[in-house]
Amino acid sequence: MNWGMKNRISRIIKPKTGRCVMLAVDHGYFQGPTTGLSNLGRTVEPLLPYADALMITRGAVRNWIEPIVDIPIILRVSGGQSILKELSNETITTGIEDAIRINASAITCSVYVGGEYERETIENLSKLVDDGEKYGIPVLAVTAVGKEMVRDARYLGLTSRICVETGAHIIKTYYTEGFEKVVEACGKVPVVIAGGKKLPEIDALKMAYGAISDGAIGVDMGRNIFQSDSPVGMIQAVRAIVHGGKSVDEAYEIYEQSKNK
Ligand code: R5P
Repeated sequence: MNWGMKNRISRIIKPKTGRCVMLAVDHGYFQGPTTGLSNLGRTVEPLLPYADALMITRGAVRNWIEPIVDIPIILRVSGGQSILKELSNETITTGIEDAIRINASAITCSVYVGGEYERETIENLSKLVDDGEKYGIPVLAVTAVGKEMVRDARYLGLTSRICVETGAHIIKTYYTEGFEKVVEACGKVPVVIAGGKKLPEIDALKMAYGAISDGAIGVDMGRNIFQSDSPVGMIQAVRAIVHGGKSVDEAYEIYEQSKNK
């Protein structure tokens, strides 16, 4: 791995703990103004001190994030579909030159294994890896799950491993029972979990704890943080699990205290 690639990964995955809390706010690229992200800047601003990286599109970063901010950007560079159409029909929407201009610390796309456009999305990942290797920019592959897929360890292991074999540098997938098998299938490639739909805070914290216990190096969470009744409390609680080795109960206490302030 070249120096630039290692340096960028070290900005995202903190060398002190080997872990990371990514804040995902890229939902608008296919969901439009998702609950909590209509004014993305206002939502994200208080959360930035507790996030290790921000997953976002180029349009959102230019609109709502000040360039002086000190946070690694994981740039969502795929899209081309919406919630109204076939979700797997993605293309690359942002070229590597623009990712470099934005000073992205990583680039990311979704891969829909089993989806109608499975091959095209693997091809998208492959292109990003070629570009990323050329310029020293790591690629985070998101294992997107189509409506008809079952999010079990077998499926998530299959799709994560395909992303690893295609050359992804970080895998983002979903937590499930038997998650250690998914992590094992990824070998040395670090794995983070997405949060998915909004859950009660205690359940989202249990999920984060389970993922870390099973070998994930962190989370790339969106709705379970920014749609919480205490987004700052929630990101602090998640951080306490990921970086601080806290239990679910200890983390929940952090969330409760912040909520009741
Ligand atoms: C979906 O493909 C987007 O990449 C989101 O970033 C991802 O789903 C993580 O956000 P959430 O935790 O809300 O699921």
